[in-house]
Amino acid sequence: MSATAPLPLFSLLDVEKAYPIEGGRRHIKALDGIRLNLLPGQSLALVGESGSGKSTLVRVMLGLERPSDGRVLVGPAELGSLDAGQRRRFAREVAYIYQDARGSLNPRLDVAALLAEPIRLHRLRPEAQIDARVDELLAQVGLPTALRHRFATELSGGQVRRVAVARALACEPRVIVADESVAGLDVSVQAQLLNLLRDLQRTSGIAMVFVTHDLGVAAYLCEQVAVMYLGRIVETGPTARILQAPRHPYTRALMQAFPRFDAPLSVSLQGEIPSPASLPSGCRFRTRCSEARAECALTDPVQSPLDDGRHVACLHPLPAASAVVPA
Ligand SMILES: Nc1ncnc2c1ncn2[C@@H]1O[C@H](COP(=O)(O)OP(=O)(O)OP(=O)(O)O)[C@@H](O)[C@H]1O
Ligand code: SF4
Ligand SMILES: [Mg+2]
Repeated sequence: MSATAPLPLFSLLDVEKAYPIEGGRRHIKALDGIRLNLLPGQSLALVGESGSGKSTLVRVMLGLERPSDGRVLVGPAELGSLDAGQRRRFAREVAYIYQDARGSLNPRLDVAALLAEPIRLHRLRPEAQIDARVDELLAQVGLPTALRHRFATELSGGQVRRVAVARALACEPRVIVADESVAGLDVSVQAQLLNLLRDLQRTSGIAMVFVTHDLGVAAYLCEQVAVMYLGRIVETGPTARILQAPRHPYTRALMQAFPRFDAPLSVSLQGEIPSPASLPSGCRFRTRCSEARAECALTDPVQSPLDDGRHVACLHPLPAASAVVPA
């Protein structure tokens, strides 16, 4: 890193997360050797099939779960060693939009109270200015002030997600972490929300980590992408470059199977995904990889830098010119 490079907001250094199974007799690694940096203002999509470890990675980044091994740094500090004051600041600066946005909102509070709560908690405005700030937040996410006195149960799916975004913005965060925030919505409502998130990110400089099953969403919203497979990041770097010419066979397979904006990864690729409890020897993708060779059964590839700003965990990366032909 050069002397002028900004300090990452987050650095994950060889992070592992193991869960006990079968009454503790065995473990599975939901995360296995994760290396990742998030720079100020950067937007990063975490993409991968169900069970690849996206939500676990987010929980570990947010300090909701401790890694079994490796380090999570927030700026220069170890996340697990923050003191009470630093933790409060972290909770304000890193806003989380849950996978289940409706379930995350207190059903006894109306929209105005839901938005006022984090402003009061973090003492971001004097009491007399809170009402006006609530109106400002509603306008920012494109909701009419007439919704102030509605409860979450009285809102549509799209409105609920906007309230969740407004609640995140109320904290005046440096990072927004959103887990599947547009999944399950009509395509037109999805598009409106994506436009909103993209505008916010461009105008406010907030960094964003966006978990998605959808490569089209990743391409639209995020400059950087990390493609996950069975607990590991197999390819990461600039989204446009990776989607134009993937170098990991798994990324290419994902793109061939799900080339469209509204084609989420709801079905598996060709071949059975192995159980995380019994990974193949060597490369974990080899049982589904069209490029596999003998040594792929012997050596587990680690993330290595290529010369164009991306990292790939593959012993035989695809050639730089390999373009994807949509199915
Ligand atoms: N608390 C837990 N105990 C045991 N195993 C767990 C636990 N949480 C997650 N796992 C396992 O870890 C792996 C990764 O799960 P995770 O929820 O992070 O995947 P995901 O990529 O977010 O999937 P989805 O797209 O379905 O949300 C899965 O095999 C899952 O079964
Ligand atoms: S290491 Fe081998 S099996 Fe694994 S992705 Fe690369 S070519 Fe395929
Ligand atoms: Mg998940």
